[in-house]
Amino acid sequence: MILLRIAIDGPAGAGKSTVARIVAQKLGYTHIDTGAMYRALTLEALERSIDLENQDALVAALEDMDLTLQPGSAGNQVFIQGRDVTAQIRSPEVSEHVSLVSSHPKVRAAVVEMQQQMAKADNVVMDGRDIGTVVMPDADLKIYLDASVEVRAMRRSMELAKKGFPVSLEELVAKIRQRDEFDSTREASPLRQAEDAVVIDTTNLSVSEVVDLILAYCRGRGGHV
Ligand code: CDP
Repeated sequence: MILLRIAIDGPAGAGKSTVARIVAQKLGYTHIDTGAMYRALTLEALERSIDLENQDALVAALEDMDLTLQPGSAGNQVFIQGRDVTAQIRSPEVSEHVSLVSSHPKVRAAVVEMQQQMAKADNVVMDGRDIGTVVMPDADLKIYLDASVEVRAMRRSMELAKKGFPVSLEELVAKIRQRDEFDSTREASPLRQAEDAVVIDTTNLSVSEVVDLILAYCRGRGGHV
């Protein structure tokens, strides 16, 4: 059986994590939500009052924090020193600061190194911003998920309401625009489409339609789906 390494990138709220989790489940692969790793580091830094501009302090915190991911039915479960922080890393406060933390080149180098170790096993679906460009440039299949900012904000607002963090739609559109802009214009591995990525505009597609499209591409690449 041919095993694939699948990279899924795209802006905030394009549906990467949901789609990556289901594709991984269907294939029996490991799903790695790389955004969750930057979010966990951001939470740790906020809790320990670490200066978010100080990349050396952030890297030291990362080395100390014993960050682990486990597959869960609703996505990766995230642990810092054995403490389950899956819910906290989605808080508006973490979302507000994560782009700054992840923009530092030394932080990225350390996190990417961890991700590349995790991706060594061949059967992986990894989602993020720089997976097809930096973390797994040799992935067998690269997907770039996009959608209009209004639809992305709408999805995020429903997700956050369910998690007990109600935010107005207008505020979310503004915040998502801001984060997209920051992630796309930073110097260290900005969000961009890999040249060999397949672009899927999910504005008018359901989750299962996107999953089916990706599984069809997997078959096209010789994966046994
Ligand atoms: O789920 P959402 O799209 O809101 O974001 P996420 O995937 O949890 O990622 C949160 C933030 O982490 C992004 O806005 C990026 O600033 C950063 N990130 C990154 O720089 N590189 C990655 N591979 C994944 C996330």
